[in-house]
Amino acid sequence: MKILNFGSINYDHVYTVPYIVRPGETLESTSVQEFIGGKGFNQSIALSRAGVPVYHAGAVGLDGGNALDALSDNGVDIGYIAKTETQTGKAIIQVSEDGQNSIILSGGANQCISIGQIDRTLENFTRGDILLLQNEISNVGYIIKKAHDIGMKVFLNPSPYHESLSDHLCKVDLLFINEVEGMQITGSNDPDLILDKISSQYPDMRIVLTLGPDGVAYRHGAQTHRHGIFKGSVIDTTAAGDTFTGHFIGAQIRGEHVTEALKQASAASSLAISASGAYPSIPTIAEVMRRVEGDW
Ligand code: RIB
Repeated sequence: MKILNFGSINYDHVYTVPYIVRPGETLESTSVQEFIGGKGFNQSIALSRAGVPVYHAGAVGLDGGNALDALSDNGVDIGYIAKTETQTGKAIIQVSEDGQNSIILSGGANQCISIGQIDRTLENFTRGDILLLQNEISNVGYIIKKAHDIGMKVFLNPSPYHESLSDHLCKVDLLFINEVEGMQITGSNDPDLILDKISSQYPDMRIVLTLGPDGVAYRHGAQTHRHGIFKGSVIDTTAAGDTFTGHFIGAQIRGEHVTEALKQASAASSLAISASGAYPSIPTIAEVMRRVEGDW
């Protein structure tokens, strides 16, 4: 069984600010840093650091060498990443003093994923393989349909959410959402109602709903599991969700029960938010197990 993550690669420009800037306001930042990021990139790194081999498909511009090197150095297969004339995607990220973030994207090469690239990539995967997707690249609906037709299992983090994804949710096996996406999909901001509504519409779907400081809730049919957060310092919440996703999938692939997978992924997220930047703060499975066992 192979795992393909068809996802975004960005250069993140991270501005540390006292609070998230208000409409019409000009605000001085206290520092600016550049990291490699993108939900796709972060989730591939998290999977790989969770001990799971992953193929990343996507696109970078001619400026994308650092991102490719980082993926390779972390053991991610980069054979399905295209190089385009269009620059690598960018994100402008504000991180406030309490660790919250807001993100503006410029898709760049991420929006140059063509039908041809998708067809050529998916030819190398088969029934039972896993496809992981976020919503920061072009033609996500086509990728879901094609992978589903092949018999791949589709894992989707529909972020940023767009209405057009609703036509494809029926083909998703495992859905990773936060409360914002839950609200966008269901119109409700009550976690139980979000799970009830999605689960009644898609009874076979497994749903992971991350709830920030309130932990995480998992639903599959009549089964619900919850896990609280591991307490610690909050420096930067960027990529907490990506880290959770990678480590949850990693734990399940290693055969862990869903309750253990929720625990390990929660521990991984707590480590990710205790340091700056998306990619540098994503922990390895060894670091996660030390956290789970209370040594860190
Ligand atoms: O989830 C965090 C990521 O979202 C950042 O790395 C940024 O690039 C955006 O894709």
